[in-house]
Amino acid sequence: MKIGIMGCGVISNQYIKDIQRLYKDLEIYMVADVKTEAAEHTAEEYGIPLWGSPEQLLACSEAELIINLTPPVMHTDINRKILQAGKHVYCEKPFALSLEDALEIQSLAKERNLAVGCAPDTFLGSSMSTCKKLIEDGWIGKPLYVSANMINAGVETWHPRPEAFYEKGGGPLFDMGPYYFSALVNLFGPVRSVYAAARKGFEERTIYTKERFGNKIAVNTPTHFSTIVEMKNGVLANMNFSFDIAKSTMPMLEIYGTDGTLEAPDPNMAGGTPKIYRREQMLAECFGGKDQCDGGFCSLPELYQDVGSFVRGAGVQDMVTKLSKDQKEDAQIAVHVVDIITSIFKSAESGMPQELVTTIGEK
Ligand SMILES: NC(=O)c1ccc[n+]([C@@H]2O[C@H](COP(=O)([O-])OP(=O)(O)OC[C@H]3O[C@@H](n4cnc5c(N)ncnc54)[C@H](O)[C@@H]3O)[C@@H](O)[C@H]2O)c1
Repeated sequence: MKIGIMGCGVISNQYIKDIQRLYKDLEIYMVADVKTEAAEHTAEEYGIPLWGSPEQLLACSEAELIINLTPPVMHTDINRKILQAGKHVYCEKPFALSLEDALEIQSLAKERNLAVGCAPDTFLGSSMSTCKKLIEDGWIGKPLYVSANMINAGVETWHPRPEAFYEKGGGPLFDMGPYYFSALVNLFGPVRSVYAAARKGFEERTIYTKERFGNKIAVNTPTHFSTIVEMKNGVLANMNFSFDIAKSTMPMLEIYGTDGTLEAPDPNMAGGTPKIYRREQMLAECFGGKDQCDGGFCSLPELYQDVGSFVRGAGVQDMVTKLSKDQKEDAQIAVHVVDIITSIFKSAESGMPQELVTTIGEK
């Protein structure tokens, strides 16, 4: 399938490299950007046949699917235009900044008989697929609780345009929440309710990238969230999302079951080795047995092919494979994730738990 890319910024490089490296039945045929010079530069760098303005890409009859890699505030508007142009769309996360927008795009795709997909696709990677199989095979017994912590010092150390991360639609929850919630929902099914509190640790941030070193940015959105997420199947997740903390030893994702603990790899990455601690190890240690593994946790092999840790494009390939079987991706998980995120904002603002209104296929 010939595809187009809308938005030639930081992440477009990863998409283009990985799709050209891994998915031979996808051809990146055209790239576009409001800054046409960025599109021209990208086309030249990666040998892409066509480049142009957003309007030219929407009018390109050969591109059947467009990957939307624009900033989050643009996602709904551009997804709508892509669908109205009669093309399938795959959007970077977050799918939308409100549940209403997410539902509008989902139903527009259905009305037009087009497919709509959304990042992240990391949960399709070898590490999270292995974790899913380990849980389903009973390695930790019945899952009870989750501890997840997306904690860092913000994006101003590496992103050339960090402003959007500190405006509405930015912050750690919209930016990184989709990786963690997509993984959680993929493992345990839909979320029932959320309860949260939010803070802004700093009123302004200092840019550290070379070109703009020392510039200050105002912070106009919360940058720290403490949340309790209750899954419909009863699993209780305690999750923190923060751009305010320089260093932490909290686990990125740990899952506690009746028979043991699973230390999952970073949900932001597609590859990585899961580790298991089985409850009987504790009994062996209590009765004088010797701990055989490093820190008690045993690394288990990834059961699926690891094509790299920081990779993109599996979700696009998945959509196109489904289309070849007459199935249309409908962004069910992405819409539910937007519901989770916006409900956390509502809970933090009201101080009250929030029930979700959307669901996905129950597990
Ligand atoms: N940077 C990352 O590491 C990363 C990782 C995963 C996901 N993402 C997601 O990818 C998306 C893009 O992020 P980025 O870091 O590449 O941003 P970026 O700011 O580097 O690039 C965005 C590009 O979109 C272009 N653009 C803006 N409005 C447009 C419009 N109306 N039509 C066409 N082009 C337009 C901009 O000119 C810019 O070149 C975001 O949703 C982000 O959450 C980024």
